[in-house]
Amino acid sequence: MRVPALVGALSRTRTSASLTDHLCMRDSALVEVQHLTKLFGNFKAVDDVSFFVRASEIVGLLGPSGAGKTTTIHMMLGLISPTAGSVRIFGKRLEENREQILQKVSFTAPYVLFPTRLTVFENLLVFARLYRVNHPSSKIRELLRMFAIEHLKNKPVSRLSSGENTRVGLCKAFMSDPKLLLMDEPTAYLDPQLALHVKEILLNMQYRSGTTILYTSHNMAEVEEMCSRIIFLNRGRVLATGTPIEVTQTILKENRTEPALREVFLHLARRQPNEVA
Ligand SMILES: Nc1ncnc2c1ncn2[C@@H]1O[C@H](COP(=O)(O)OP(=O)(O)OP(=O)(O)O)[C@@H](O)[C@H]1O
Ligand SMILES: [Mg+2]
Repeated sequence: MRVPALVGALSRTRTSASLTDHLCMRDSALVEVQHLTKLFGNFKAVDDVSFFVRASEIVGLLGPSGAGKTTTIHMMLGLISPTAGSVRIFGKRLEENREQILQKVSFTAPYVLFPTRLTVFENLLVFARLYRVNHPSSKIRELLRMFAIEHLKNKPVSRLSSGENTRVGLCKAFMSDPKLLLMDEPTAYLDPQLALHVKEILLNMQYRSGTTILYTSHNMAEVEEMCSRIIFLNRGRVLATGTPIEVTQTILKENRTEPALREVFLHLARRQPNEVA
Protein backbone atom coordinates (compact mmCIF):
# COMPACT_ATOMS: atom_id res chain seq x y z
CA MET A 1 0.00 0.00 0.00
CA ARG A 2 2.22 2.82 -1.29
CA VAL A 3 0.89 6.31 -1.84
CA PRO A 4 3.94 8.61 -2.14
CA ALA A 5 2.09 10.67 -4.77
CA LEU A 6 -0.45 11.54 -2.13
CA VAL A 7 2.24 12.78 0.24
CA GLY A 8 3.57 15.13 -2.43
CA ALA A 9 0.10 16.29 -3.43
CA LEU A 10 -0.71 17.10 0.15
CA SER A 11 2.51 19.08 0.60
CA ARG A 12 1.74 21.09 -2.52
CA THR A 13 -1.72 22.04 -1.22
CA ARG A 14 -0.38 23.47 2.03
CA THR A 15 -0.39 27.10 0.94
CA SER A 16 -3.85 27.02 -0.61
CA ALA A 17 -5.10 25.26 2.52
CA SER A 18 -4.08 28.35 4.47
CA LEU A 19 -6.41 30.50 2.40
CA THR A 20 -9.34 28.17 2.86
CA ASP A 21 -8.48 27.98 6.54
CA HIS A 22 -9.27 31.66 6.90
CA LEU A 23 -12.32 31.49 4.67
CA CYS A 24 -13.98 28.35 6.07
CA MET A 25 -15.65 29.06 9.33
CA ARG A 26 -16.35 26.74 12.18
CA ASP A 27 -19.71 25.67 10.68
CA SER A 28 -17.97 22.75 9.01
CA ALA A 29 -16.03 21.81 12.16
CA LEU A 30 -16.11 18.14 13.09
CA VAL A 31 -14.29 18.91 16.33
CA GLU A 32 -14.64 22.12 18.26
CA VAL A 33 -12.65 22.74 21.41
CA GLN A 34 -13.54 25.92 23.28
CA HIS A 35 -11.65 27.54 26.12
CA LEU A 36 -10.43 24.18 27.41
CA THR A 37 -8.53 24.46 30.69
CA LYS A 38 -7.09 21.83 33.00
CA LEU A 39 -5.63 22.45 36.41
CA PHE A 40 -3.69 19.76 38.26
CA GLY A 41 -3.68 21.29 41.74
CA ASN A 42 -2.36 24.80 41.14
CA PHE A 43 -0.61 23.87 37.90
CA LYS A 44 -2.33 24.88 34.66
CA ALA A 45 -1.49 22.10 32.19
CA VAL A 46 -3.97 23.39 29.58
CA ASP A 47 -4.83 27.06 29.57
CA ASP A 48 -7.83 28.39 27.64
CA VAL A 49 -7.21 26.29 24.52
CA SER A 50 -9.59 26.71 21.57
CA PHE A 51 -9.35 25.16 18.11
CA PHE A 52 -11.40 23.34 15.52
CA VAL A 53 -10.82 20.48 13.10
CA ARG A 54 -12.83 20.19 9.90
CA ALA A 55 -14.05 16.91 8.42
CA SER A 56 -11.35 15.00 6.50
CA GLU A 57 -8.51 17.20 7.73
CA ILE A 58 -5.24 15.87 9.10
CA VAL A 59 -4.28 18.28 11.85
CA GLY A 60 -1.17 18.18 13.99
CA LEU A 61 -1.31 19.04 17.68
CA LEU A 62 2.28 20.03 18.36
CA GLY A 63 4.36 21.50 21.08
CA PRO A 64 7.36 20.84 23.31
CA SER A 65 7.27 18.10 25.91
CA GLY A 66 4.86 19.10 28.67
CA ALA A 67 2.98 21.57 26.45
CA GLY A 68 -0.38 19.93 27.22
CA LYS A 69 -1.02 17.83 24.09
CA THR A 70 -1.84 14.53 25.80
CA THR A 71 -3.91 16.28 28.46
CA THR A 72 -5.94 17.98 25.70
CA ILE A 73 -6.50 14.69 23.85
CA HIS A 74 -7.50 12.95 27.08
CA MET A 75 -10.10 15.67 27.71
CA MET A 76 -11.35 15.19 24.13
CA LEU A 77 -11.94 11.54 24.96
CA GLY A 78 -13.55 12.25 28.32
CA LEU A 79 -10.75 10.33 30.07
CA ILE A 80 -10.19 13.36 32.31
CA SER A 81 -12.63 16.17 33.03
CA PRO A 82 -11.78 19.73 32.06
CA THR A 83 -11.56 22.34 34.78
CA ALA A 84 -13.29 24.68 32.31
CA GLY A 85 -14.29 24.79 28.66
CA SER A 86 -16.05 22.39 26.34
CA VAL A 87 -15.51 19.84 23.58
CA ARG A 88 -17.97 19.32 20.72
CA ILE A 89 -17.49 16.41 18.32
CA PHE A 90 -19.83 15.72 15.38
CA GLY A 91 -21.74 18.82 16.49
CA LYS A 92 -22.57 17.35 19.93
CA ARG A 93 -21.27 18.20 23.35
CA LEU A 94 -18.96 15.46 24.63
CA GLU A 95 -20.14 15.83 28.20
CA GLU A 96 -23.71 14.74 27.45
CA ASN A 97 -23.09 12.45 24.45
CA ARG A 98 -19.83 10.68 25.27
CA GLU A 99 -20.94 7.12 24.53
CA GLN A 100 -22.58 8.00 21.21
CA ILE A 101 -19.63 10.14 20.08
CA LEU A 102 -16.95 7.65 21.06
CA GLN A 103 -18.54 4.91 18.95
CA LYS A 104 -17.15 6.75 15.93
CA VAL A 105 -13.85 7.85 17.46
CA SER A 106 -10.66 5.82 17.81
CA PHE A 107 -7.68 6.57 19.96
CA THR A 108 -4.18 5.22 19.83
CA ALA A 109 -1.06 5.95 21.88
CA PRO A 110 2.07 3.94 22.64
CA TYR A 111 1.34 4.10 26.38
CA VAL A 112 -1.99 2.25 26.06
CA LEU A 113 -1.47 -1.14 27.68
CA PHE A 114 -3.09 -4.37 26.59
CA PRO A 115 -3.73 -7.39 28.83
CA THR A 116 -0.26 -8.90 28.56
CA ARG A 117 -1.11 -12.60 28.95
CA LEU A 118 -3.45 -12.59 25.97
CA THR A 119 -2.04 -13.05 22.50
CA VAL A 120 -2.18 -10.34 19.85
CA PHE A 121 -5.13 -12.09 18.21
CA GLU A 122 -7.01 -12.59 21.50
CA ASN A 123 -6.53 -8.93 22.42
CA LEU A 124 -7.82 -7.74 19.08
CA LEU A 125 -10.74 -10.16 19.28
CA VAL A 126 -11.82 -8.50 22.55
CA PHE A 127 -11.95 -5.14 20.77
CA ALA A 128 -13.63 -6.60 17.67
CA ARG A 129 -16.44 -7.93 19.90
CA LEU A 130 -16.62 -4.65 21.80
CA TYR A 131 -17.05 -2.76 18.52
CA ARG A 132 -19.45 -5.45 17.19
CA VAL A 133 -17.32 -6.00 14.09
CA ASN A 134 -18.81 -8.31 11.44
CA HIS A 135 -16.53 -11.26 10.62
CA PRO A 136 -13.99 -10.39 13.35
CA SER A 137 -11.39 -13.00 12.36
CA SER A 138 -11.06 -11.78 8.79
CA LYS A 139 -11.03 -8.14 9.92
CA ILE A 140 -8.22 -8.91 12.38
CA ARG A 141 -6.27 -10.78 9.68
CA GLU A 142 -6.67 -7.80 7.33
CA LEU A 143 -5.38 -5.38 9.97
CA LEU A 144 -2.46 -7.59 10.99
CA ARG A 145 -1.48 -7.79 7.32
CA MET A 146 -1.89 -4.01 6.91
CA PHE A 147 0.52 -3.28 9.77
CA ALA A 148 2.87 -6.16 8.87
CA ILE A 149 2.47 -8.12 12.12
CA GLU A 150 0.68 -11.24 10.85
CA HIS A 151 3.54 -13.37 12.16
CA LEU A 152 2.86 -12.12 15.72
CA LYS A 153 -0.75 -13.25 15.79
CA ASN A 154 -0.25 -15.95 18.44
CA LYS A 155 2.41 -14.19 20.51
CA PRO A 156 1.51 -12.93 24.00
CA VAL A 157 1.53 -9.12 24.11
CA SER A 158 4.03 -9.23 27.00
CA ARG A 159 6.71 -10.49 24.58
CA LEU A 160 6.32 -7.76 21.96
CA SER A 161 8.82 -5.02 21.22
CA SER A 162 7.70 -1.38 21.60
CA GLY A 163 7.26 -0.98 17.85
CA GLU A 164 5.26 -4.22 17.61
CA ASN A 165 3.06 -3.14 20.51
CA THR A 166 2.48 0.21 18.80
CA ARG A 167 1.26 -1.61 15.69
CA VAL A 168 -1.16 -3.73 17.73
CA GLY A 169 -2.51 -0.40 19.03
CA LEU A 170 -2.91 0.83 15.47
CA CYS A 171 -4.82 -2.37 14.56
CA LYS A 172 -7.12 -1.69 17.51
CA ALA A 173 -7.62 1.93 16.42
CA PHE A 174 -8.60 0.87 12.89
CA MET A 175 -10.91 -1.93 14.02
CA SER A 176 -14.07 0.16 14.07
CA ASP A 177 -13.61 2.17 10.83
CA PRO A 178 -13.58 5.42 12.81
CA LYS A 179 -14.76 8.78 11.50
CA LEU A 180 -12.27 10.55 13.78
CA LEU A 181 -8.84 9.28 14.79
CA LEU A 182 -7.10 10.82 17.79
CA MET A 183 -3.49 9.67 17.75
CA ASP A 184 -0.97 10.50 20.43
CA GLU A 185 2.50 9.91 18.96
CA PRO A 186 1.45 7.00 16.71
CA THR A 187 4.92 6.65 15.21
CA ALA A 188 6.98 7.24 18.37
CA TYR A 189 8.45 3.72 18.60
CA LEU A 190 8.51 2.90 14.90
CA ASP A 191 11.66 2.66 12.80
CA PRO A 192 11.78 5.08 9.81
CA GLN A 193 10.52 2.50 7.32
CA LEU A 194 7.56 1.51 9.51
CA ALA A 195 6.79 5.15 10.30
CA LEU A 196 6.63 5.84 6.57
CA HIS A 197 4.37 2.83 6.08
CA VAL A 198 1.98 4.05 8.81
CA LYS A 199 2.03 7.55 7.34
CA GLU A 200 1.00 6.12 3.98
CA ILE A 201 -1.81 4.11 5.57
CA LEU A 202 -3.13 7.22 7.30
CA LEU A 203 -3.01 9.30 4.12
CA ASN A 204 -4.69 6.53 2.19
CA MET A 205 -7.43 6.23 4.79
CA GLN A 206 -8.04 9.96 4.74
CA TYR A 207 -8.07 9.95 0.92
CA ARG A 208 -10.39 6.95 0.53
CA SER A 209 -12.73 7.33 3.51
CA GLY A 210 -12.39 11.00 4.45
CA THR A 211 -11.24 10.05 7.94
CA THR A 212 -10.45 13.05 10.12
CA ILE A 213 -7.18 12.77 12.01
CA LEU A 214 -5.78 14.78 14.90
CA TYR A 215 -2.36 13.60 15.91
CA THR A 216 0.68 14.51 17.92
CA SER A 217 4.26 13.79 16.93
CA HIS A 218 7.74 15.05 17.65
CA ASN A 219 8.82 14.14 14.13
CA MET A 220 8.62 17.51 12.41
CA ALA A 221 9.40 16.25 8.89
CA GLU A 222 6.48 13.83 9.19
CA VAL A 223 4.16 16.58 10.42
CA GLU A 224 5.17 18.94 7.61
CA GLU A 225 4.32 16.26 5.06
CA MET A 226 1.13 14.99 6.64
CA CYS A 227 -0.71 17.94 8.13
CA SER A 228 -2.69 20.55 6.27
CA ARG A 229 -2.93 22.49 9.55
CA ILE A 230 -1.22 22.65 12.89
CA ILE A 231 -2.19 23.75 16.37
CA PHE A 232 0.99 24.66 18.19
CA LEU A 233 0.87 24.58 21.99
CA ASN A 234 3.42 25.91 24.43
CA ARG A 235 3.08 25.76 28.21
CA GLY A 236 -0.61 24.91 27.92
CA ARG A 237 -1.53 27.74 25.56
CA VAL A 238 -2.12 27.92 21.81
CA LEU A 239 0.87 29.76 20.40
CA ALA A 240 -0.08 29.58 16.71
CA THR A 241 -2.44 27.81 14.33
CA GLY A 242 -2.37 27.48 10.56
CA THR A 243 -0.46 25.67 7.84
CA PRO A 244 3.09 24.53 8.69
CA ILE A 245 4.43 27.61 6.86
CA GLU A 246 2.09 29.98 8.68
CA VAL A 247 3.01 28.54 12.07
CA THR A 248 6.70 28.80 11.19
CA GLN A 249 6.28 32.45 10.19
CA THR A 250 4.15 33.34 13.22
CA ILE A 251 6.56 31.89 15.76
CA LEU A 252 9.86 32.78 14.11
CA LYS A 253 8.45 36.19 13.05
CA GLU A 254 10.17 35.79 9.68
CA ASN A 255 8.94 35.59 6.12
CA ARG A 256 9.56 31.97 5.07
CA THR A 257 8.66 30.10 1.91
CA GLU A 258 9.17 26.63 3.42
CA PRO A 259 8.00 25.26 6.77
CA ALA A 260 10.72 24.90 9.41
CA LEU A 261 9.01 23.38 12.43
CA ARG A 262 12.25 21.92 13.79
CA GLU A 263 13.64 25.44 13.94
CA VAL A 264 10.46 26.58 15.67
CA PHE A 265 11.05 24.00 18.39
CA LEU A 266 14.67 24.97 18.87
CA HIS A 267 13.70 28.64 18.93
CA LEU A 268 11.19 28.01 21.72
CA ALA A 269 13.62 25.85 23.66
CA ARG A 270 16.22 28.67 23.67
CA ARG A 271 13.78 31.22 25.08
CA GLN A 272 13.72 32.13 28.74
CA PRO A 273 10.80 30.61 30.72
CA ASN A 274 9.39 34.09 31.49
CA GLU A 275 9.46 35.35 27.88
CA VAL A 276 6.02 36.19 26.54
CA ALA A 277 4.63 33.66 24.01
N1 LIG B 1 -2.16 13.74 36.30
C1 LIG B 1 -1.32 14.76 36.33
N2 LIG B 1 -1.03 15.37 37.50
C2 LIG B 1 -0.19 16.42 37.53
N3 LIG B 1 0.42 16.95 36.46
C3 LIG B 1 0.14 16.39 35.28
C4 LIG B 1 -0.72 15.25 35.14
N4 LIG B 1 -0.79 14.93 33.84
C5 LIG B 1 0.01 15.79 33.18
N5 LIG B 1 0.57 16.66 34.06
C6 LIG B 1 1.48 17.77 33.69
O1 LIG B 1 0.82 18.55 32.71
C7 LIG B 1 1.75 19.03 31.74
C8 LIG B 1 1.27 18.63 30.37
O2 LIG B 1 1.39 17.25 30.24
P1 LIG B 1 1.06 16.50 28.88
O3 LIG B 1 1.21 15.04 29.13
O4 LIG B 1 -0.25 16.97 28.39
O5 LIG B 1 2.21 17.05 27.93
P2 LIG B 1 2.55 16.69 26.43
O6 LIG B 1 2.45 17.94 25.64
O7 LIG B 1 1.73 15.54 25.98
O8 LIG B 1 4.09 16.28 26.52
P3 LIG B 1 4.93 15.11 25.77
O9 LIG B 1 5.33 15.67 24.43
O10 LIG B 1 6.14 14.92 26.66
O11 LIG B 1 4.08 13.89 25.67
C9 LIG B 1 3.11 18.44 32.12
O12 LIG B 1 3.84 19.43 32.83
C10 LIG B 1 2.76 17.29 33.04
O13 LIG B 1 3.78 17.05 33.98
MG1 LIG C 1 2.15 13.59 25.47
